[in-house]
Amino acid sequence: MRLDRFLSNLKYGSRSEIQKAIKRKLVYVNDDLMSDSRFKIDPSVDIVVFDGEKVFYRDTILLMLNKPSGYLSATKDGKEKTVMDLIREPYSRFDLSIAGRLDKDTEGLLLITNNGKLIHDIITPAKNIYKKYFVRVDSDFLNPKVLETDYEIMDGRSNYYYPSTPIVEKINDREFYLSIKEGKFHQVKRMVKHFDRSVTYLKRVEIGQVSLDKSLKIGEYKELIDYKI
Ligand code: URA
Repeated sequence: MRLDRFLSNLKYGSRSEIQKAIKRKLVYVNDDLMSDSRFKIDPSVDIVVFDGEKVFYRDTILLMLNKPSGYLSATKDGKEKTVMDLIREPYSRFDLSIAGRLDKDTEGLLLITNNGKLIHDIITPAKNIYKKYFVRVDSDFLNPKVLETDYEIMDGRSNYYYPSTPIVEKINDREFYLSIKEGKFHQVKRMVKHFDRSVTYLKRVEIGQVSLDKSLKIGEYKELIDYKI
């Protein structure tokens, strides 16, 4: 990859700003001072230093965030705080997207990545990846197992669908875990509403084989290096 493209992809400046930085002798590759912005590098092996700082690079970034309530699952929003406001350098230099959004008032496991295939695998129901939620409801729900039966609810486009093989694990009369394969608009809330209860607290605890790290405080994140979804 061209050096100027590598650095501009990582938001060190526009191509012309990178050229200027190279003229000002601010860029080294493997300890060699660079003079040509078109120089080709292999980002996975070459060590690039920009203005005295070693450039952090990974082909795939995957972050686990313990999402707080009150943050939108969006990359940008004109008015409201988004989960991306919680991500700092070096990760904020990457073009990150969210793999399976959560509502503003939902907490818990959010995966954030620059890898489009990973996002697709997580959000496609056909991949059979369960997302597990801790659910608290407003009134006694003695048999939440009814959520596993066949019934239709509406998605975000007002089309009806049958949630596909949800799994319920009761904790007590007002709390249970619910695992679902889809990630439709307000899905857990609408499934619960179908049985005349309202969700008062919702937290995602698992996506496939990835569990929310219990040591992560609300709003904290960590990079997953070795993972299997
Ligand atoms: N289902 C919901 O209703 N909300 C979420 O945030 C996630 C799943």
